[in-house]
Amino acid sequence: MAKEISIDLGTANTLVYMKGKGVIMREPSVVAVDVRTDVVVQVGSKAKEMIGRTPGSIVAVSPLKDGVIADFDVTATMLKHFIQEAAKPGRFSHPDIIICIPSGVTEVEREAVEDATAKAGARHIQLIDEPMAAAMGAGLPVSEPVGSMVLDIGGGTSEVAVISLDDIVAYESVRVAGNKFDEAIIQYIKKKYDLLIGEQTAEEVKIQIGSAYPTEETANAALQIKGRSLVDGLAKNVTITAEEVREALSDPLHIIVEAVRATLEKTPPELSADIIDHGITVTGGGALLRGIAQLLHQETGMPVRVAENPLDCVVDGAGMQLEKSLHARPSKEKKRKAPEE
Ligand SMILES: Nc1ncnc2c1ncn2[C@@H]1O[C@H](COP(=O)(O)OP(=O)(O)OP(=O)(O)O)[C@@H](O)[C@H]1O
Ligand SMILES: [Mg+2]
Repeated sequence: MAKEISIDLGTANTLVYMKGKGVIMREPSVVAVDVRTDVVVQVGSKAKEMIGRTPGSIVAVSPLKDGVIADFDVTATMLKHFIQEAAKPGRFSHPDIIICIPSGVTEVEREAVEDATAKAGARHIQLIDEPMAAAMGAGLPVSEPVGSMVLDIGGGTSEVAVISLDDIVAYESVRVAGNKFDEAIIQYIKKKYDLLIGEQTAEEVKIQIGSAYPTEETANAALQIKGRSLVDGLAKNVTITAEEVREALSDPLHIIVEAVRATLEKTPPELSADIIDHGITVTGGGALLRGIAQLLHQETGMPVRVAENPLDCVVDGAGMQLEKSLHARPSKEKKRKAPEE
């Protein structure tokens, strides 16, 4: 039995939407592989828990980097696993898939996503630009002759786009997003405290006390973190304040602000006027960073709002496309041959 699903294959998270059902899966894009046998031992959240704490023979890897596929085979295996999970308890194995790709990718990177999806068992494949999906999922009037601006801050890429009449009119994509925020925190703590912390700890610091702009909530916030001292190699505790985290995040945030500015500069005047009226909508996990709207408003002068359920916008938008395409199935000759099992 064929089914139709849409997938947001993200650097940090993969989400699956099933036609008629909505979002049925949200999993980290992580795979744990036994390097002695090349066998995948865990996928998703269980694999993510293994990052930085696996025995020598098992490595937990994120097969996507900066929004694009870094390890083709592992990505295909991961997708196949997610598709099979999504299929339970039914029996479909070759679904029709709408899958998102960042707007700034090369032809080769785009083909890699298509091929990995085919290898994972897809029958038809349709690609959708991530910012378009994000805008749809955030409820922006993408089909109207009105300029809508969306900023999606994911794990690997931040994408800004102005959309009007179902088309992307201006866009910028930078490979700076949540992962770079984590890295910036690691570097800051290393420099200031001679302390080495892991990626998971850095992400936790960001989520617990991170901010882009001083907010009431973070005014006196601080967090005790554990790491390894670079001086004597021993475990050490340090208390880090929200203000320090904000300082650590300022460089990567600046790059995102510049991308928004550059997109505004490229936007035709009529549509700019719409954006002044309707503002910028922020989606993706990075939209959850405290004070992000305030920072963007201060730096661009535009009204800014964070979308509802920002982590789901892209897959929701791709899901809306899926629901629409019910009556507009691709023609037969465009059909892919189902790959051999
Ligand atoms: N509350 C929060 N505050 C700040 N950042 C957060 C929060 N929750 C999640 N994130 C970050 O959001 C990022 C993941 O967002 P998202 O799932 O949109 O990315 P993705 O779609 O997988 O990546 P990409 O679109 O770049 O390929 C991670 O870096 C994560 O740390
Ligand atoms: Mg994304």
